[in-house]
Amino acid sequence: MASSPYFVLLVLHLFLFATVAPASGHVYAAPKEKMTHLHFYFHEIYGGPNTTTITVVNPPGNNSFNNFGSIGVGDNMLREGPDPSSRLIGRAQELAVQASLESPAYLSAFNFVFTAGEHDGSSISIFGRAVLTETMERGIIGGTGKFRMARGYTISRLIKRTGTTLIELVVEYDAYIFHY
Ligand SMILES: *[C@@H]1O[C@H](CO)[C@@H](O)[C@H](O)[C@H]1NC(C)=O
Ligand SMILES: *[C@@H]1O[C@H](CO)[C@@H](O)[C@H](O)[C@H]1NC(C)=O
Repeated sequence: MASSPYFVLLVLHLFLFATVAPASGHVYAAPKEKMTHLHFYFHEIYGGPNTTTITVVNPPGNNSFNNFGSIGVGDNMLREGPDPSSRLIGRAQELAVQASLESPAYLSAFNFVFTAGEHDGSSISIFGRAVLTETMERGIIGGTGKFRMARGYTISRLIKRTGTTLIELVVEYDAYIFHY
């Protein structure tokens, strides 16, 4: 029985399987996912010599639809606190399109680029709908540096709006970032 060719083949087969299979299937354990919660303030100046946002497209024709179709580009400030003199921790570089016929709602794409503190050199990419009169939730769809492969969400709300020709806005942000 032990010398049967079938047995030899079976042993040979098991031997090949045992040695070849692990070498052909590279299996890595997934790194453990972390969640980082960041709380900061977005500061925007619209108008005047120090503007941080410009309107690059004004919609043609009658402007009765709340500026539907307008496109703005911003390089706004991310600060630790609501005060304009509080520490600058990054920039919010963004594109915003007024994309609602009914009442202003922006289709927004942001890169939050951290330039100081613990997350200096890393960034997160945010995409979603923004209605300034409501609590806003937007998706985090990627990131770089420490936030490579990030996903998650931001919750934000407008806490201050001053001025008419020169408008200053402060938006409080909580970012929940899932990353490795
Ligand atoms: C613009 O910024 C400069 C430099 O920080 C400052 O001196 C000036 O007062 C600012 N102007 C306005 C209108 O805020
Ligand atoms: C612009 O829209 C308003 C409000 O709908 C309307 O009353 C007005 O006639 C429009 N003007 C033109 C030039 O189409």
